[in-house]
Amino acid sequence: MTSSPVLRAASVSRVFHTQAGDVHACTDISLEVGAGELLVVRGPSGSGKTTLLNLLGGLDRPDSGEVWLGDTNLGSMPERALGEMRQKRLGFVFQSFGLIPVLSAAENVEVPLRIQQTDAATRDARVAEVLDVVGLGEHGAQRPYELSGGQQQRVGLARALVSRPDILLADEPTGQLDSATAAAVMDLIADLVHAQGVAAIVATHDPLLMARADRVLELHDGRLVTAG
Ligand SMILES: Nc1ncnc2c1ncn2[C@@H]1O[C@H](COP(=O)(O)OP(=O)(O)O)[C@@H](O)[C@H]1O
Ligand SMILES: [Mg+2]
Repeated sequence: MTSSPVLRAASVSRVFHTQAGDVHACTDISLEVGAGELLVVRGPSGSGKTTLLNLLGGLDRPDSGEVWLGDTNLGSMPERALGEMRQKRLGFVFQSFGLIPVLSAAENVEVPLRIQQTDAATRDARVAEVLDVVGLGEHGAQRPYELSGGQQQRVGLARALVSRPDILLADEPTGQLDSATAAAVMDLIADLVHAQGVAAIVATHDPLLMARADRVLELHDGRLVTAG
């Protein structure tokens, strides 16, 4: 990679203390991802994918190690500043889509811009643009329940991208979709990452989705077993 990484993890570890004992969900993980790069983190259920994405996205803090977004060390930031950073610079996509059922597709996509108090004209333009990009230009007025699973996840993707984040973090984004729809959504993610130059980390346990990755890392019991 020639340019400096958008996101970098250095020896990140996270231990959960439970009644049954300590769970080493992530151990000594180092990785980086650059602009326009799609990194897939693959691993079976329980291997630590969600924990890792939460650490990378500043939703959780590591017990040791550091996460850097550009030249900002997330560990050095107070909670409030971290929240603002997440709003502006990170886009999240979830397995369960996470759409608000009473809002239309366009209103769902608009939510992050409202939180950031973006003016109405800019909001309208950005929402229309990003719905077009995910192929839902004609569906903005529909509620989530009026859309297919694949369309709902494209709304989720549009919402994640509407703030023009530096990095997209997706946790099993195709986990609720049939395999053909999953492949189409993964194709769309790859195309958007490459076209818009956003860095992306996608966690999945679906081996069929590896084909579109620029790089695949494999997690096993909280440790990276393959680098490259
Ligand atoms: N909040 C938590 N408290 C205790 N254990 C947790 C918590 N979150 C995750 N774990 C444990 O950490 C391990 C990794 O979980 P997770 O990151 O969800 O894996 P994956 O997303 O790959 O399925 C599992 O053993 C899980 O039970
Ligand atoms: Mg998970």
